[in-house]
This record gives sequence, structure tokens and C-alpha cells, in this order.
Amino acid sequence: MKKIMEQMAEELSAAFEKAGYDPSYGKVTVSNRPDLCEYQCNGAMAGAKAYHKAPFMIADDVVAQLSDSRIFSRAEVVKPGFINLDVKPEFVAEYMNKMAEDEKLSVETAKNPKTIIIDYGGPNVAKPLHVGHLRSAIIGESIKRIGRFVGHKVIGDVHLGDWGLQMGLIITELKHRKPELVYFDDSFTGEYPAEAPFTISELEEIYPCASGKSKEDEAYRNEALEATHLLQQGKPGYMALWNHIMNVSVTDLKRNYANLNVDFDLWKKESDAQPYIPDMVEDMKKRGFAYEDQGALVVDVKEESDTKEIPPCMLLKSDGASLYTTTDLATIVERMKLFQPDEILYVVDKRQELHFIQVFRCARKTGLVNPETKLSFLGFGTMNGKDGKPFKTREGGVMRLENLIADIDEEMYRKIVENRSVKDKDAKDTAKIVGLSAIKYGDLSNQATKDYIFDVDRFTSFEGNTGPYILYTIVRIKSILNRYVQEGGDLSTGKILPAVNASEKNLMLQLSGFAAMVENAFEEKAPHKICAYIYEVSNAFNSFYHETKILSEEDQAQKESFLQLLQLTRRVLETSIDLLGFSAPDRM
Ligand code: ARG
Repeated sequence: MKKIMEQMAEELSAAFEKAGYDPSYGKVTVSNRPDLCEYQCNGAMAGAKAYHKAPFMIADDVVAQLSDSRIFSRAEVVKPGFINLDVKPEFVAEYMNKMAEDEKLSVETAKNPKTIIIDYGGPNVAKPLHVGHLRSAIIGESIKRIGRFVGHKVIGDVHLGDWGLQMGLIITELKHRKPELVYFDDSFTGEYPAEAPFTISELEEIYPCASGKSKEDEAYRNEALEATHLLQQGKPGYMALWNHIMNVSVTDLKRNYANLNVDFDLWKKESDAQPYIPDMVEDMKKRGFAYEDQGALVVDVKEESDTKEIPPCMLLKSDGASLYTTTDLATIVERMKLFQPDEILYVVDKRQELHFIQVFRCARKTGLVNPETKLSFLGFGTMNGKDGKPFKTREGGVMRLENLIADIDEEMYRKIVENRSVKDKDAKDTAKIVGLSAIKYGDLSNQATKDYIFDVDRFTSFEGNTGPYILYTIVRIKSILNRYVQEGGDLSTGKILPAVNASEKNLMLQLSGFAAMVENAFEEKAPHKICAYIYEVSNAFNSFYHETKILSEEDQAQKESFLQLLQLTRRVLETSIDLLGFSAPDRM
């Protein structure tokens, strides 16, 4: 089905053409003066120059062609030459019925589905998840879902940071604490117990401890560097420990991501890319891209049009060790080999932008990707506390994700118990569901690239532009529908009739914009557009609800029409929040 605005533009274009003008002027937009009209066309203004005519004269000619319009109930010229448009209620109702029949709510599925890898999450093994990783998970998950909804093959990869100094630090600290472990025995051959010699809580305590020590004690730091090096060379005892660290850590990460309703198709890690490094580097050398500079191996990536200095991409340090850049390049090699993606999208903190500029340029220049493969970087801003500085605990430490979630759930629980009479057990579960909406909506309603302030009070409020407000609206709809069913009503009968009042028409017009909105949110990788949209839909629904008697409507056909519209509203809202990565409870 053609989108509602496309249908309008078609009619306007035909009118321009019949009046003797170029049809391309027949574009229609949502009115920026909703007090005056519902939609508008500014084509006459745009055409004035080409036709050496006053815009209102063109507009008059066009409007004359719209007298027997299928779509518009009013087309009016206003000076200097805008065409103000209102839509026929019958047309909108018909559109609603078609949208309701369509499984995808009239969103068109991509004609040429693309394979897109999204690299998001990016936690570092053995370090606790902190709020910095929250944004990547939330934003990446949403873009993945939107991409799938519009018909692409989207592969989400968590890309674990498992190959850095943190591993050497943990091994070193373990060696100091438990030197008797078989893993440190030089005769260790590789047979070892399945159970790890530490728990997740120990691990989480070991890393910051070791990291602190290494900053103060140079010998300790060197020991950790050496351990990292030995691990990367495959020393059996260290490999065994690495395996334990991975198992314990990944189990914990999976639990954390599951709590966030975030789900990865791939649990690949930086170490998986290591086998690709030697050949890749050799090839870049052989083809003259990589050269030695002060002992290090680098590839130039600056371009003439650069306005700021882009340093060369470093492949190997002078001691032969590879770097974050090398790993990311080798990961591209692996991804091209395994999945032949059309696009790889990285959802990472925007402070890593330079790194990705270097990686992308190097990958293109050296032909690691096909010319048509898109490499994109969605750099997100920082999540700040109310003081405008990066989010911290009350004591000033790094906030762990689990604690942050616990804080929100607690506040949500307090509000739910205070506002309503829900049973205690139910209130706890409900608080979790609503709490997740508070966190995710609070994040996603901002443009991803911007910093934002994490405000527990505001995010958990049932009023205003918040997740809980959206869920509250959905719950309100569900409860009306339930009551109708309990009274013996059948939700499958009836169809949507032309709107009976302005607020119902407004709700229908809002709903009709769903398809265009989703497609645009995908094009621009902008989940915040979904948030802005469902906020408008919720407001429109609540106005309609306050002005209209629904269940007490006496005319059965009219009542069924209302209930069909409610079901459509619910589907639009529930589909939208699913694209954002959360869901609604039955009660709240
Ligand atoms: N582990 C990295 C960090 O915490 C993020 C990884 C992002 N993805 C990538 N392919 N580099 O900073």
C-alpha cells in the first residue's frame, strides 16, 4: 500500500501537471501550522521563479484542479502562495482500515535486502559493565530491530574486548594471590579442571585492584605486560586461565544483557581476529601500503581534503605487538570472509571517532572491503549526571550498570506502589518492566550523537516525554479492550468509521504517519524519531480518550469502530516500543 503522504503527493503532482506545471512541485508535508490546516504544499512558492509568475497564481491554478479530489476536503490558497490542505475523514478512515489489515502496518519491506553487521555492546571481558556500555547496547539493539523490521538481514555482534592488557593484569594478580595454582606451573600441559579458580565477584574485584597496582608499581605493570604478551603467544597455563576468565565473564555478561532485553547473534571477540593479522599485515607490506616509521609499521591515511591532521594508522608497534586498530582491521577481514556484508555499522562512543576514521580509510585504501561496502560509525555522546559530568555513583566512583538498573527499579517500584494498588509481587515485576522503559526511552529519546543527562526522577515519571508515560498509555488501551471482552464483546468485528471529532481525526492522522516514520528512522539510524512519534501518538490518544465516550457509546457500529481504532493504536505503540527494545506490562 502506498503511504498516505505519497498518495497525497500523487494527487498534487497530477494537479500541477493538469494546470500546466511540472509535477515535481507537488510535494506535500505535514502542516507546520496545525491550527490552520492538516497538510500543506509549498510547490507554488518553489515554482514561482521558473514560471515568472506570482506564487498564488500558480497555487490558484493547481487548487482549481482539486475540486473533485479523492483525498482532500479542503484545498485553499493562502498568500503568498501556500496551499493549505485538509483530508477527507472517509479517506483517513479507509487508510486506517487498510493499515490495520496489513501485518507490517503498511511499512514497505526493502526491495533489495542488505546484510548489515552492527558492532555494538563492546564490553571488555572481566571488567564490570558500566554505564558507558549501556548506550552502545541500547542504541545498537534498537537500530538492529528497526533494520530487521524494514526487511534487512541484520547481524548483531557484541565484539568482546578480550585481548588487551586487562587479561595480563588479571593473570598477574592471580599469580600473586594464588601462586600454587597449576596454571602457573611451568610443566603445565593443558589438562585442567572445568571449574574456574575464581568467581565473578572475585574477578570483578581483581581487575580494579590489579589496574590500581599497575599504575603505581612499574615492576607490576611490566609483569602484566609480559603476561599479556605470553598469553598472546599462547602459553598453555595462561590460555587456560583466559578460558576461565572468558567463561565466567561471558556468563555474567549474557545475564546482564538479557536483563536489558539486548540480544546478540554473534558473541565474537577481539581474539578471533588475531589469526588474520599476519597475512593481512604481510599483504599490506608487500603491496607498498605499510611502511616502517621509527620501528613501527604504519599506513598513511591522510587525504588532501582533510582540514585536520589525520595521523597514520599504526599496525604494529616497534616490539611487533598489534594494536586496537590492527584488531579492528583484521575483524573487517574476518567479517568480509564470513558474511560478505553490504554494511558494517559501529555503535561506539564518539570519542573513538578518529580511530574509526583511520580504520575505515585504511580498510578502503588497502582493499579489505569492496568499494560498495559501507563502513559507518555512529558515535554516541556521553551519559552525564545531573551535574553535567559523566555519570558517577554517589561516592564518585564508576557506576556499574547493575546498580544503575537497581536504582531505577527501586524508584519505579516506589512510584508504582504510591500511585496504584498493585500487589507487592506484581509491583516488583512491573517495576522491572517499566524501569527498563525509563532507561531506554530516556536514552533513545535523545539524538544519539548528543550528550544527555541521566535524570532518574524525570525518566521514571508517568507524565511527560518518558517511557513510563508511553507504557501507561498502552496499559490504558489494554484495559479498555479487556473490559470490552469481559463484558462479552468481540474485538474482531467492525471497522473504522470516519472520525467523529477533531481529536479522533488527529489520532488517525498521527497513526497514518507510522510507515514513513519507521523508514526514515532506519535511513537516518535515528531511534529518537520513533520516540518523538510515539509521544505524539500517545498525546493524541489521550486527548481522544478524554473527549470520547468509548465503552458507553450506544451505536454498536460506532463503538466497534472506536475499538478497532484502539487496537490499531495499541499495535502501533507496541510495535514501536519493540523497535526501541522494551515492552509494556498488562497493568501498572
Ligand atoms: N571494547 C571497546 C571499548 O570498551 C569498544 C569496542 C567497539 N567496537 C570496535 N569494533 N572497536 O572501548
